[in-house]
Amino acid sequence: MIILSAKATSEFFKKHDLSFAERNKTETMRVHGYDQGSLALAPYGSYWRVLRRLVMVDMLDLRKGQNFQSNNENNGDFWEMFMAGTETTSSTIEYALTELICNPESMTKAKAELASVIGANRNVEESDIDNLPFLQAVIKETLRLHPPIPFLIPRRAIQDTKFMGIIFPKHTSSCECLGYWKDPDVWDNPLTF
Ligand code: HEM
Repeated sequence: MIILSAKATSEFFKKHDLSFAERNKTETMRVHGYDQGSLALAPYGSYWRVLRRLVMVDMLDLRKGQNFQSNNENNGDFWEMFMAGTETTSSTIEYALTELICNPESMTKAKAELASVIGANRNVEESDIDNLPFLQAVIKETLRLHPPIPFLIPRRAIQDTKFMGIIFPKHTSSCECLGYWKDPDVWDNPLTF
């Protein structure tokens, strides 16, 4: 099932998030054991919850400067966090800067906001984000135009599901093509930053 429109995207995530809470696992993943200890591929349920909690605890430990715990599950988690967290964030920053260079008015506004809220003598902290609405808008617009994972991570139905009047049988794969983000019915100039 391929989801293309804003209406379908909204209905899918509002009403059927839980029905499509599993992932597809290919033979290649199984043969190489990539599904072992993977948070992204874990079936929805208590095991997924435990993995999520482990990741959160380890990340908090890392913030406190302690080492990532070393058992198999956490090694898998570490690589997954590394893969999921590096290319996504770096490509977003590259595209944000590219868009700002191509849109000098927005660049001037972003710089002015940073100068007034942060100043020249310190770095931006997470706690500053609420006071930087223009920077937030720049990031959201960048993600809209250049999503790092354009098809999201495909889901799989855990049960027969009626969606937009059609019954999709258990194990149907869903692929979300971010129809919403560039739908001309939703945005005046969908391709303009
Ligand atoms: C711009 C940055 C990022 C984008 C656009 C992004 C996008 C996504 C998307 C679309 C999904 C699938 C969500 C779903 O099926 O409901 C996902 C899942 C995930 N992401 Fe990210 N992500 C980003 C940053 C990160 C970072 C920094 C980390 C970790 C340090 C991370 C770790 C994960 C994990 C573990 C999952 C699987 C969650 C699960 O299945 O329960 N992501 N991400």
